[in-house]
Amino acid sequence: MTTILPTPTVSSSTATGQVRLTVRGLRKVFADDPRPALEMLRRGATKAEVLQRLNVNVGVAEASFDIRAGEIFVIMGLSGSGKSTIVRLLNRLIEPSEGQILLDGRDLTALRYGDLVEVLRRDMSMVFQSFALLPNRTALENAAFGLEVAGVKRADRRKAALAALERVGLADHADHYPDELSGGMQQRVGLARALAKNPTIMLMDEAFSALDPLIRSDMQDELLRLQREEARTIVFISHDAEEAMRIADRIAVMEDGRIAQIGTPAEILRAPADEYVRAFFRGVDASRVLRARDLARPPDDGNPGEPGRFRYRTDTAGHFRGVLAGDGTSALFGLEPVAADTPILALLGRVAAAPCPLPVVEADGRFLGVISRAVLLAALDRGEDARREVRHG
Ligand SMILES: Nc1ncnc2c1ncn2[C@@H]1O[C@H](COP(=O)(O)OP(=O)(O)O)[C@@H](O)[C@H]1O
Ligand SMILES: [Mg+2]
Repeated sequence: MTTILPTPTVSSSTATGQVRLTVRGLRKVFADDPRPALEMLRRGATKAEVLQRLNVNVGVAEASFDIRAGEIFVIMGLSGSGKSTIVRLLNRLIEPSEGQILLDGRDLTALRYGDLVEVLRRDMSMVFQSFALLPNRTALENAAFGLEVAGVKRADRRKAALAALERVGLADHADHYPDELSGGMQQRVGLARALAKNPTIMLMDEAFSALDPLIRSDMQDELLRLQREEARTIVFISHDAEEAMRIADRIAVMEDGRIAQIGTPAEILRAPADEYVRAFFRGVDASRVLRARDLARPPDDGNPGEPGRFRYRTDTAGHFRGVLAGDGTSALFGLEPVAADTPILALLGRVAAAPCPLPVVEADGRFLGVISRAVLLAALDRGEDARREVRHG
């Protein structure tokens, strides 16, 4: 069921590619005796069938995926599709019925409780949708709360909490109580509380869903900024397609307790695995999500000497050098390449005016491929269709 699409281009994200969390054959059913339900799921039964036959709720029917160091991995899906259950399984708030969870290659499901608490305390922080701030404590005390629970000394935890408040731009509100703070500020305190532990992994369950749209996009920016400064591994739950597209390095789309698709935002937009996934992203404007790197394709070099063809030259390090007109003159002409991060809307004029498909390069000059008019138009056209469908239902 899991569809892992090939990655055609190199990602610009902070992800190092090293796997931090591995989830394998994970299942969670809510029953005293999970065996009959698990047996049905192994034979491919759906969540609805298990509920109907056994009256057992399935949280996760089957999930397998890897999360890489430094990436923002968004798990999205409709309400009830199993997102929160997965997060709770990751930090062992609940026990899996079946399957493995490996952190840096270590099987968490096999750890003794004491060792587990130690690992989770060191590596993971959780940010919830409800800010869950203690009303009778200041922002600083709230930010320090996780450390207090972990038994960190008062002076040390105040120092860490203040540094965390600074990172989310709230140091000057350290002595304010929650009811003196706006919703956005309260959520920043929630974020600071998670950051104070300096976790290498952050689990965020609908962390921004309760915020007003403007504040919400502020918080998304904030998260992306923090991620640029010090990359953590972030598992971010969302039911919002725009949010997922905006912040995700990769997205796992959940459908009835299973993973319908895993891929980068561009991969999922380009090739949704099924109707459910397609419907989910229908309203998303592709022209705002896609960047030059997402559209870059290997150049069609044609035959040397064939008129009207172009050949793209790179040096031994793969850096772009220029374009050879295939007209037999073999003259190398200079053509300013496009930066891989350029949003595709900003490319329209250049692609239209260029004598050949535009070369795309990474920040270090590495040649990624070319963007032709046809490919650009096809990508924009999809965005137009999507908007039309949203407007007219
Ligand atoms: N403690 C529980 N007992 C019984 N069923 C549960 C429990 N927690 C979650 N579920 C069920 O598991 C499914 C997935 O829930 P959840 O993971 O909360 O979905 P999401 O976060 O995607 O909205 C739902 O059908 C839900 O009713
Ligand atoms: Mg949930």
